Amino acid sequence: MLKALKVFKELKQEDISVLGAIERLMRKYEYVPVEMIAKEAKMDINDVEYYLSRLNKFELVRRWIGPYIGYVLNMHGYDCLALHALVCKDVISAIGRKLGVGKEADVYDALTPDGRRVVLKFHRIGRISFRSVRRVRVYVGDRRHTSWLYISRLSAKREFEALKILYPLGVAVPEPIAHNRHVVVISFIDGIELSEVKELSDPQGFLGEIIENLRIAYVDGGIVHADLNAYNIIVTDDEEMLIIDWPQWVSTIHPSAEMLLRRDLKNIFKFFRKRFGIEADEEEALKYIKGE
Ligand SMILES: Nc1ncnc2c1ncn2[C@@H]1O[C@H](COP(=O)(O)OP(=O)(O)O)[C@@H](O)[C@H]1O
Ligand SMILES: [Mg+2]
Repeated sequence: MLKALKVFKELKQEDISVLGAIERLMRKYEYVPVEMIAKEAKMDINDVEYYLSRLNKFELVRRWIGPYIGYVLNMHGYDCLALHALVCKDVISAIGRKLGVGKEADVYDALTPDGRRVVLKFHRIGRISFRSVRRVRVYVGDRRHTSWLYISRLSAKREFEALKILYPLGVAVPEPIAHNRHVVVISFIDGIELSEVKELSDPQGFLGEIIENLRIAYVDGGIVHADLNAYNIIVTDDEEMLIIDWPQWVSTIHPSAEMLLRRDLKNIFKFFRKRFGIEADEEEALKYIKGE
């Protein structure tokens, strides 16, 4: 279960206000002083101290004791803020089980107020290693501020942007429903990862369809996936596909776009060669995808 959910129902409006104040002040302070939190949340200092100790007990914030006492949000606190916003906006009404344990995200199924089953993807960049932090530097650019909170939010924003472009073009991607902080809400698909699929009725046709989707993404969307592999393609019982996991996409005019597209293709071709014994011409596919 999502850790933030354990305490989410117990949170009062004041807890959320204090979390929100810390979030805003974290742009300015490495550790946010208690007085500043009180000022930002427009609360009495004694009340703030009370709520801070609650939040600390709930493990939503981290207390720092240095020349002064300061606080920062931790991942669970950030999850609570995003959940609160999504519930307030009537995007979701319930969260279910964990669907995927990815390297860089926690994925849960959820319900909308009208009973639609959706997916909540919590981006968690920088949780495990700095490898991923380095990887997102492409889009962090010159900005010095590369805290986990900032890059996780950026990662979610990037993924949502890609889906907003690709879904209307008819590329086989989840429907983007909503986005808040480091969380994206997308349509749910009942399937398994391609890497788990032992048999396909028409592997050649399936590969062709992947290429077709990459072509539309490239030519009409101006987008290269850049992290494509058999784990990021979901296959349903009816052998329909969905290409997921887009936060690291690059624009087709990005200097590394061709190299990344080539790498995507290599991954997929290697999988189809090993699993289904299919040989395909990489250069030809590359040209086709680029619309040449
Ligand atoms: N729209 C979706 N419907 C069903 N399952 C999903 C969906 N999106 C992701 N998942 C599951 O969650 C896993 C992780 O999601 P993914 O977007 O690949 O993030 P990451 O690999 O970066 O952690 C996927 O491999 C898949 O099993
Ligand atoms: Mg993935």
